[in-house]
Amino acid sequence: MRRKIIAANWKMNKTFSEAMALIEEIKSQLSQIKNRKSIVIIAPPYPYLKSVADKLKDIENVFVAAQNCYSQEQGAYTGEVSADMVKSVGADYVIIGHSERRNYFKEESSLLAEKIKAALKNNLLPIYCVGETLQQRESGKCGDVVRKQIEEVLFSLSKNDFSKIIIAYEPVWAIGTGLNATSEQAQAIHSYIRTIVKEKYGSETSENTSILYGGSCTEKNAAELFGCKDVDGGLIGGASLNAKSFTEIIKHISEKK
Ligand code: PGA
Repeated sequence: MRRKIIAANWKMNKTFSEAMALIEEIKSQLSQIKNRKSIVIIAPPYPYLKSVADKLKDIENVFVAAQNCYSQEQGAYTGEVSADMVKSVGADYVIIGHSERRNYFKEESSLLAEKIKAALKNNLLPIYCVGETLQQRESGKCGDVVRKQIEEVLFSLSKNDFSKIIIAYEPVWAIGTGLNATSEQAQAIHSYIRTIVKEKYGSETSENTSILYGGSCTEKNAAELFGCKDVDGGLIGGASLNAKSFTEIIKHISEKK
């Protein structure tokens, strides 16, 4: 079933005590939302995963994600963290292929495909990010870029494994810029992503895939973006660092029919 999902990507923000205060605030705000059907996922920095997971473990439909994981199981990879390790501290999801990983850390399709496989092998559900740069959009390559990112990284998966993937469309030009995609732009590419998935895995899988929007999504534009037929929620960066803003965004998806 296609799920409505709001995920918080805290990126490299907050000290431990600030993170604990934020999670307490989010918990208290969440308890005030009645009949929430959406899934909420929080992706804190690695060192806080266990503490955040412990704090959230009794709340229904709230989960923890890592912002990344490595492709290898274990061994001499100084500074890296495996999918197994992430799972063992209470995370159920992992963000893979965020544009900041692609850009600053030069992560390419072959590595991302390995990461996705490592995540699935360890029962971590991947939130796989795709999206074009401004230059790619302006030269009319948006669809091709996103298609390639999906084909190269996901299309060697079995249908069963693919059904565990959440896709996040995050145009690079919208991330952290205050310049979100319009609902028309988001709907057009989300619908195209669904077509690409349908071609490979069929309409049932395609209809059941949750496709999130990310990039300057705030409580001001969430209702409009989530109003799009093929937008199933959001991956929220900046606005997720404030409990009130984040829960306002959650309310917008909860109200979506
Ligand atoms: P933003 O980030 O909401 O701050 O634009 C989104 C993301 O990078 O996941």
